[in-house]
Amino acid sequence: MADNDSVQSGKNFGIETPQKTEGYFLKGLSHLDWGMKDRLSGIFNQQSGKTVMLAFDHGYIMGPTSGLERIDLTIVPLIEYADCIMCTRGILRSVVPPTFNKAVSLRYSAGSTILTDLNDECIMDIDEAVRLNASLLAVMVAVGDPKHEGLTIRNLTKTVDAGTKFGIPTMGVTAVGKELVRDARYLAMASRVCAENGAHVVKTYYCEKDFEQVTNSVPVPIVIAGGKKLPEKEALEMAYRAVNEGAAGVDMGRNIFQAKNPVAMIKAVREVVHYGAKPEEAFKKWLAEN
Ligand code: 5RP
Repeated sequence: MADNDSVQSGKNFGIETPQKTEGYFLKGLSHLDWGMKDRLSGIFNQQSGKTVMLAFDHGYIMGPTSGLERIDLTIVPLIEYADCIMCTRGILRSVVPPTFNKAVSLRYSAGSTILTDLNDECIMDIDEAVRLNASLLAVMVAVGDPKHEGLTIRNLTKTVDAGTKFGIPTMGVTAVGKELVRDARYLAMASRVCAENGAHVVKTYYCEKDFEQVTNSVPVPIVIAGGKKLPEKEALEMAYRAVNEGAAGVDMGRNIFQAKNPVAMIKAVREVVHYGAKPEEAFKKWLAEN
């Protein structure tokens, strides 16, 4: 126990220096609690304000799709270049070494696969997310899906409630049904619904026309999915346009792990997202590594 006799009175109160009240670097999130901000600061780079998330959760609806047959061989070598990894608990426990210390965006909703009817999902137990040290809870939200819209929005709401108890932020992932058009009007609607229901981050798709309307109508950071595999230069152009039109980064899967030389590709994506490299410059660097 400290000895009371030797306690010295404090002298250095910095009277001339008012304590700084720091803002927070991520849009719409300055009123969050410390734990939430700490986790988000591990996902988004504080200098660029952006993130390169590496998504490889596809197996939960698609099984061993191309590039994800052996995650230990294809994905593990990419993890060191990602700011955050997005995957299921099954892959996290069985394949991802716990020594990377990367932020984890945990696939928190699960349900039907591409073989039946997508989006018929439930959510996990929050204790499991805490045990896995998740930094973000990713939940599918199917706005406009006549069968599952209500269910998936309830899943989002319950996730935000559970995550808030433990300081873990939630990411609403906008799912696009086969019959819905991925235009700015739809993406703004779906993304805004996620934010209105408490999502701290929204993952959606890029659209060529009026994407700024999507990013501007959503009060929290948006990250874009890569979508189906594109030629490498086009994927870099999409990432460039998305961040220049207000996205806070990418949560990209197939356009990285199905690329020729995935390590070179994730490095090129980082150049674009964090350092504002033009797509042509980043593409040249990618080419040089092939
Ligand atoms: C699946 C997802 C994927 O993580 C997401 O689509 C990102 O991957 P890709 O860049 O391959 O589209 O959310 O539900």
